[in-house]
Amino acid sequence: MGLPKNFFWGGATAANQCEGAWNVDGRGPALTDVTTGGTATSPRYITYVDENGNPGKIRSGEKLPKGARYAVLEDCLYPNHDGIDFYHHYKEDIALFAEMGFTMFRMSISWSRLYPTGTELEPNKAGVEFYRSVFEELRKHNIEPLVTIWHFDTPLYLVEHYGDWKNRELIDLFERYARTVFTEYKGLVKYWLTFNEINNTINFLGKEDYITLTDQDYQDAYQHLHNQFVASARAVKIGHAIDPENMIGCMICGITYYPLTPDPADILENRHTWEKGIFYCGDVQCKGKYPTYAKRLWAEHNVHLDITEQDLKELAEGTVDMYTFSYYMSTTVTTHQVKDTVSGNFSRGARNPYLQYSDWGWAYDPCGLQYYLEMIYDRYEKPLFVVENGLGAYDTVEDDGSIHDQYRIDYLKSHVKTMIQAVDNGVDLRGYTWWGPIDLVSAGTGEMRKRYGFIYVNKHDDGTGDNARSRKDSFYAYQKIIASNGEDLD
Ligand code: BG6
Repeated sequence: MGLPKNFFWGGATAANQCEGAWNVDGRGPALTDVTTGGTATSPRYITYVDENGNPGKIRSGEKLPKGARYAVLEDCLYPNHDGIDFYHHYKEDIALFAEMGFTMFRMSISWSRLYPTGTELEPNKAGVEFYRSVFEELRKHNIEPLVTIWHFDTPLYLVEHYGDWKNRELIDLFERYARTVFTEYKGLVKYWLTFNEINNTINFLGKEDYITLTDQDYQDAYQHLHNQFVASARAVKIGHAIDPENMIGCMICGITYYPLTPDPADILENRHTWEKGIFYCGDVQCKGKYPTYAKRLWAEHNVHLDITEQDLKELAEGTVDMYTFSYYMSTTVTTHQVKDTVSGNFSRGARNPYLQYSDWGWAYDPCGLQYYLEMIYDRYEKPLFVVENGLGAYDTVEDDGSIHDQYRIDYLKSHVKTMIQAVDNGVDLRGYTWWGPIDLVSAGTGEMRKRYGFIYVNKHDDGTGDNARSRKDSFYAYQKIIASNGEDLD
């Protein structure tokens, strides 16, 4: 028993959180480039100038004032502009991944590095060559690339001029981009993911108190998702046609939901939360059609989608080869009024008295990973990959430069243990890529000090630091786990 011999071990990153070089070699901006840094308790802002040239800022999900344009403001700090400068450090970073024993590295391609506005007819050559060099470097070290085509970074031009994914014209523009990457990297990349955490468009709704939602917001969100489903299905079909060896997956933000009480109303609400937050996207992408409960979800908010016959055909023809997901935490669901709520990642729920929480309110629940793996495998019977799992924590650098991150090692081992338990119970799990094997900019807060890495990066929230890399204690712990294929967990 235990993990299969060819199990993939590695780490996962996203272009906008690590590359930096935001305006280098012809790259166009994405929304993250007009998004400031925040903290655990203060939000990130998206900046703009209004029609009179006055600067302003909104929070994620809020609408720009009429006539305003997204803008980089002089007195703001934009952590994604520099990231950890993976753009210039990738050889050194890949060598460190190889030293840990990685056999897989998940990364994303920045759409606007290839198509600066998203509308060009031909890709930006410098962008295409950058990723080719990264993939070649990985291959040199026998590390299999796992590539996310879209990781939260639609070109800003498309957000501003097309209204983002609620506009179905993005399907064709995405097709051009996807065709380019499948063609250019044929033979170099075999494992692909279409949209990162595609379900978060829905999970975001209702999570934040500062937004008052209307039916139109739901309409836009479900249409946005529908357009991404079609774009994903089309990409799967094209990817298979270009190289039948390609394995192409969906990527779902995996949160394990538990009912807070045995009240039957909570049990039903919990089931409905799974449907809305997790199954809705997985069902469409794995089964190629909308589930029966979709009608109920749409009716709740008077949603009427623009779905064509051709769309339905494409969804049916473009089902994914594998189901991949992130897992950080579980959360609770209840119909009762509760005061003690916790908000972490794309979830909010009552505090679970059986669990501990990170400094950012993320529940620490390895058991939830096993629950999720077993539940999802049973539902789809497709190969699974855990493509994100990790602990964001404050690290202390000792005088001699060492970093003793036992908390991260404990988190890692406990999740690897439950993952193996799920495999022993019959789950076909093919790989595990830890989120942020090297410190990078947090997506949620824009912080550097929310660190996930086994590799420390000397870069700080105020933009200072020389980007030097160093090994934490967890670097050696993961190296041992990989070398023993998950057997050495003591
Ligand atoms: C996932 C995203 O939601 O969680 C990543 O796919 C993100 O992009 C990760 O970085 C961890 O979240 P955060 O907010 O701690 O960076």
